[in-house]
Amino acid sequence: MNYEEQLREKIASRAARVGVVGLGYVGLPLAVEFAKAGFHVTGIDVQQSKVDQLNLGQSYIQDIPTSVLEPLVKSGKITATTDFSAVKDLDTIDICVPTPLRKTKDPDMSYIVSACEEIAKYFHPGMLVILESTTYPGTTDELVLPMLEREALNVGKDFFLCFSPERVDPGNPKYQTSNIPKVVGGITPACTTLGALFYGQSLETVVPVASTKVAEMVKLLENTFRMINIGLVNEMALMCDRMGINVWEVIDAAATKPFGFMPFYPGPGLGGHCIPIDPFYLSWKTKQAGIEARFIELAGYINGQMPHFVVEKVQNALNDHSKALRGSHIHIMGMAYKKDIDDVRESPALDILLLLQQRGARVTYSDPFVPCIRLMDGGSMQASDAQEMAVAADCVVIVTDHSNTDYAAVVDRAKLIVDSRNALKKYSSEKVVRL
Ligand SMILES: NC(=O)c1ccc[n+]([C@@H]2O[C@H](COP(=O)([O-])OP(=O)(O)OC[C@H]3O[C@@H](n4cnc5c(N)ncnc54)[C@H](O)[C@@H]3O)[C@@H](O)[C@H]2O)c1
Repeated sequence: MNYEEQLREKIASRAARVGVVGLGYVGLPLAVEFAKAGFHVTGIDVQQSKVDQLNLGQSYIQDIPTSVLEPLVKSGKITATTDFSAVKDLDTIDICVPTPLRKTKDPDMSYIVSACEEIAKYFHPGMLVILESTTYPGTTDELVLPMLEREALNVGKDFFLCFSPERVDPGNPKYQTSNIPKVVGGITPACTTLGALFYGQSLETVVPVASTKVAEMVKLLENTFRMINIGLVNEMALMCDRMGINVWEVIDAAATKPFGFMPFYPGPGLGGHCIPIDPFYLSWKTKQAGIEARFIELAGYINGQMPHFVVEKVQNALNDHSKALRGSHIHIMGMAYKKDIDDVRESPALDILLLLQQRGARVTYSDPFVPCIRLMDGGSMQASDAQEMAVAADCVVIVTDHSNTDYAAVVDRAKLIVDSRNALKKYSSEKVVRL
């Protein structure tokens, strides 16, 4: 049997030893799905604390309850290590390491490079490697392939390489790793076939595409689509504000059109590890091809103005009550970048906090999912009690609209509220100022 046939058999019989490199928001749920399907999964991460927690069966990712993880760990279906020599015994590897931007907004490929350098040390014939980290089109064949390919080890024959974009939406109760269709594209047709076969064992729907570049571009189209539509609707919000029109009512009414319209909502700015970052991977790459990604730059600019707009709203609302922002107590409700999750990466609430402080306000925050935050000056801030602060603050700003919040009590107690999410849609009160 050749390597392709051997791997096909191991995958189909669940005998393949599966590896996941990077055990974060993407990697841990994926490892759990593979283990649930009956594979033996080895997770590899550079963070000892995550490895230790996983080996105790304790989940550190909100979407994965410990009650799901623990039995898989106890039964030996999932183990974790910081030692890359585990790759020697693996048949497949999914790479799920971070892909942030550098300060210059250029892609930071250092995590992918460092993971691949370690994998390459223990890489062996017959392996299937799948990159899942969001990245620019061309990464898999221009960067990863040369790190793995060597003399007498040919892709599509002796080993197999794919890209498969991760689409997980943390906090989404309806769509999770197992029921989100999985796009996969390989360097060669044999790579695609094996990648699709592998995911088909644990995930409901697999969508094979012709190449790694197509698969890479799919993710960037999806996230750029969101970023640009949010930029458009944020600009609408700025226009409506100037003209005294309720943008939320406009969107709700437009959304009654049964075709040709999809509602997006304005807000305090983009957050999270994907939407504010991924499109810049594309614009960086297209710049090299001599094409300027003008929609992306424009939407990036408009979305980046939203935290400033929220602060301006707070300032104007206070002025209308004969108060100045300097010296006032402003309470931020919600620090996570979106509702019902604990992730503060790129959260606009952090920008709003800093802008308010820079303008001399005294700022507190509350968030049931985020007990403490690290500030940009290196210090930290503990969450306060939302209801106590609603009474104490000169103005409450709703930045994240978590579901489990007693908004009626906030409206009742607060002196003034700036609502950047339309969380108070059903309340009509003179003290509520909407975006
Ligand atoms: N979080 C999401 O909602 C989401 C959704 C879709 C795609 N993505 C993409 O998936 C990738 C991973 O994102 P995430 O949110 O899971 O990140 P994360 O920070 O939660 O997890 C990444 C993990 O990789 C580990 N790591 C870093 N360098 C490593 C190395 N060299 N070797 C082994 N482990 C290493 C980190 O310790 C961390 O545990 C990114 O490219 C991201 O853009 C994320």
